[in-house]
Amino acid sequence: MTTQLAIDYQLLVDSLSTAVLLVNEKLTVFYLNPTCESLFDISALRARNYSVLQLLEIPDDEFDTEKALIKTLEKGQAYTRREAIIRVNFQNIHVDYSVSRVHVDKSTAPFLLIELNPIERMLRISKEEHLLQQHQVTRQLIRGVAHEIKNPLGGIRGATQLLARSLNDPKYNEFTEIIINEVDRLRTLADTMLGSRQLPSYIDVNVHEPLERVYSLVNNQTKKKIKLVRDYDLSLPSIQADRDQLIQVMLNVSVNAVQAMLENKAFYHERDQPPQLTFRTRIQRLVTINNVLHRSAIRIDIEDNGPGIPADILEAVFYPLVTGRANGTGLGLSIAQNIIHQHNGVIVCQSVSGKTTFSLYLPWESKHVTK
Ligand SMILES: Nc1ncnc2c1ncn2[C@@H]1O[C@H](COP(=O)(O)OP(=O)(O)OP(=O)(O)O)[C@@H](O)[C@H]1O
Ligand SMILES: [Mg+2]
Repeated sequence: MTTQLAIDYQLLVDSLSTAVLLVNEKLTVFYLNPTCESLFDISALRARNYSVLQLLEIPDDEFDTEKALIKTLEKGQAYTRREAIIRVNFQNIHVDYSVSRVHVDKSTAPFLLIELNPIERMLRISKEEHLLQQHQVTRQLIRGVAHEIKNPLGGIRGATQLLARSLNDPKYNEFTEIIINEVDRLRTLADTMLGSRQLPSYIDVNVHEPLERVYSLVNNQTKKKIKLVRDYDLSLPSIQADRDQLIQVMLNVSVNAVQAMLENKAFYHERDQPPQLTFRTRIQRLVTINNVLHRSAIRIDIEDNGPGIPADILEAVFYPLVTGRANGTGLGLSIAQNIIHQHNGVIVCQSVSGKTTFSLYLPWESKHVTK
């Protein structure tokens, strides 16, 4: 007796971690799976009337995409392009893609099946991981130093209070107060350097909830000086996370963006755009984080149109004590990266003048080790 499996092929293709695109004989997009949607950052609905050339062709490309596609349609000869460039949101992404002819239905003209594999995102994230590993060593060092600074502070504070009492002379109060205030400031700094002492408490969190908290905090604080934009994919699933820590991360990143925009007003004088901060959420297929390939992750982009991260600190921006601001401590991003790392995720940053994006990747689906 044979057992028949009722396989839902649509579901199967929809679950693939490879981006799949089906194109009809007029080279118009007929179908794209969710991985392909997130690769091109476009919804299936919008992409449907697109010519595939709008997605695959870039200016100044010597390769004649149209000719190659038509040849495959006519002759059935499959081909693969390695390290081709596609443009997504004004950025170049490197992909390998294969094109083959398929007969979906005998009564209709053949279709082209295009399978795309982005190499860029993985490369970029593994670079961040390398940074992350290095910065964990630095963090250990910082924690050690912070601990050593903190140890004698209690003693200094107590002794100063005793001194103030035994001097019992108001004219010295000013000096003892300075010592106590500075000791308190150092203690707060050392506490920040040591990081949170509380263990994270993981609960089911819909990331839009902490994001909305941060949105209203920023909205209240910037008093309409910044245009805030929300672009949410409300179908995102909940993840296991520490809600308060997520708020801290989103706030640290957003505050940096706000500071960069408001402290550089001259930057906006030559432009017709006002300062703008965007909160975007998406599903991201196929993300490698810390050598683990996740089929799916939540991506939260916090994007500003400010002057960008100064070039001399861009590479080291997640390191502790790296700051581009006169009164910055340089701990905000290091703490944020640490928290997201504890959630098995990673923060990736891209910055050019006029567009700085911090993307928080939080995995949520089954994973397997690749290395
Ligand atoms: N969106 C951004 N645009 C421009 N520069 C940025 C942006 N985000 C971060 N930076 C740069 O990165 C530096 C490091 O940020 P980080 O949050 O780690 O430290 P900080 O803001 O200087 O101090 P703090 O510990 O108070 O947060 C900032 O000083 C700033 O120069
Ligand atoms: Mg900061």
